[in-house]
Amino acid sequence: MTAETVFGPAHPRYAETAVLDELRRTDYARLDAGGHVYLDYTGAGLYADSQLSEHLALLRGGVFGNPHSVNPTSTAATELVEHVRAAVLEFFGASPDEYEAIFTPNATGALRLVGEAYPFHPGDRFLLTFDNHNSVNGIREFARARGAETTYVPSVAPDLRVDRELLPRYLTEVGGEHHNLFAYPAQSNFSGVQHPLEWIEEAHDHGWDVLLDAAAYVPSNRLDLGRNHPDFVALSFYKMFGWPTGVGCLLARREALAKLERPWFSGGTIVAAFVQREWYQSAPGAAHFEDGTVNFLNLPAVEIGLRHLDRIGLDTIHTRVEALGKMLLDALGSRRHANGTPAATVYGPRDWERRGATIAFNFLHPDGHVVDERYVDRVARLHNISLRTGCFCNPGAGEVAFTISRDTLVGGEFGEGMTLDDYVHATGLPSGGAVRASLGLASNYADVERFAAFAHAFVDLPAVPDDLPPRTGC
Ligand SMILES: Cc1ncc(COP(=O)(O)O)c(C=O)c1O
Repeated sequence: MTAETVFGPAHPRYAETAVLDELRRTDYARLDAGGHVYLDYTGAGLYADSQLSEHLALLRGGVFGNPHSVNPTSTAATELVEHVRAAVLEFFGASPDEYEAIFTPNATGALRLVGEAYPFHPGDRFLLTFDNHNSVNGIREFARARGAETTYVPSVAPDLRVDRELLPRYLTEVGGEHHNLFAYPAQSNFSGVQHPLEWIEEAHDHGWDVLLDAAAYVPSNRLDLGRNHPDFVALSFYKMFGWPTGVGCLLARREALAKLERPWFSGGTIVAAFVQREWYQSAPGAAHFEDGTVNFLNLPAVEIGLRHLDRIGLDTIHTRVEALGKMLLDALGSRRHANGTPAATVYGPRDWERRGATIAFNFLHPDGHVVDERYVDRVARLHNISLRTGCFCNPGAGEVAFTISRDTLVGGEFGEGMTLDDYVHATGLPSGGAVRASLGLASNYADVERFAAFAHAFVDLPAVPDDLPPRTGC
């Protein structure tokens, strides 16, 4: 069967994404040359050959010095950086009057900037969804150190969404003149759930500042900051277009940025500093948040990557991953053992309403037990499939997906020296987490077909070998 016969009737718009098949043959030829099935776009996007050539040509054709100066090569670098900054704002529809684009090493760097500088005080609140990456969870430590209270909004199994009725109750629990920060992901890096962007205005109406973790959302969805106005947005560019690594961004509303109190200053972030008076004056705008020298030689590759996405069209990527994602979900849902029991269980939505192409699941033995994820890794390697196993740095979504109770966690004996295997045992997990397959701009029909063949290897699998290695990371 061809992609056309499968997708034709069900996804009339799939044919409009043919440009991606052409790019797969040209710009991403190394995937098929190496026989790869890449299914970890939520881990990292893939770069096109043409992005590299354009970037290298730019570096080869110019002389760029440290931008913290006014000499000719420094000026050239500054111009490049400022051009990229403007391109980033434009890509996200962010008015420069409203937003600043601050370059960071990655999404985590952007989240840390907010966490460490948000003016938490006793009586303030940090509200966040269970479903969050650990780089958002970690902000609770800054909140706690400054006496603010952290509250988690639970997700509900099996869809792993937040109950529609529940969030307003949390958002209205604020009073007085406090600084309150609400953080959530536009798309879950665990289940692919897309949490409503309407929450932003709802939270603003109750006086919250909103931190939107857009890292898993922006590679295949348009985030329009002319329509939605979160105070802070964190993202990593390598997740959008593969290259460069080491550059992320904090998009921040100027008004919200003015509230932040940085705990230190460094080279590049000040107008002036004195030693004998121990005094400094902060640089205005983004500069105050960019520690040291920005990644000025890699930053031009961001603009090249954004242009690459623009040329393809985010709508095209979105249509593509939706059609392939539905097929992948079907491949999992339709697999049955000879005794009629399902060969896989999906965590999160089984339909395609308000979700992205990140799918978390486990294979099941005929008796209903979860197939050890280390064995899944082993079989995936044989099929040259790159996917992810574990909890994907999102323990809250995992706790709900695997129904680990609060009592188990609060009452459990955990401590230094425990291995990941010890934690799996102590929490009663059936395996070391889930399996995650995620799709992106270079995904094609053949990838999902090969995934389906791989999934078939788990049908009627009674047990796994007992020589699996110890687990090493979460
Ligand atoms: C939703 C989400 N937030 C934050 C991050 C952290 O990104 P980085 O490791 O690039 O800082 C990730 C990475 O997977 C993510 O998926």
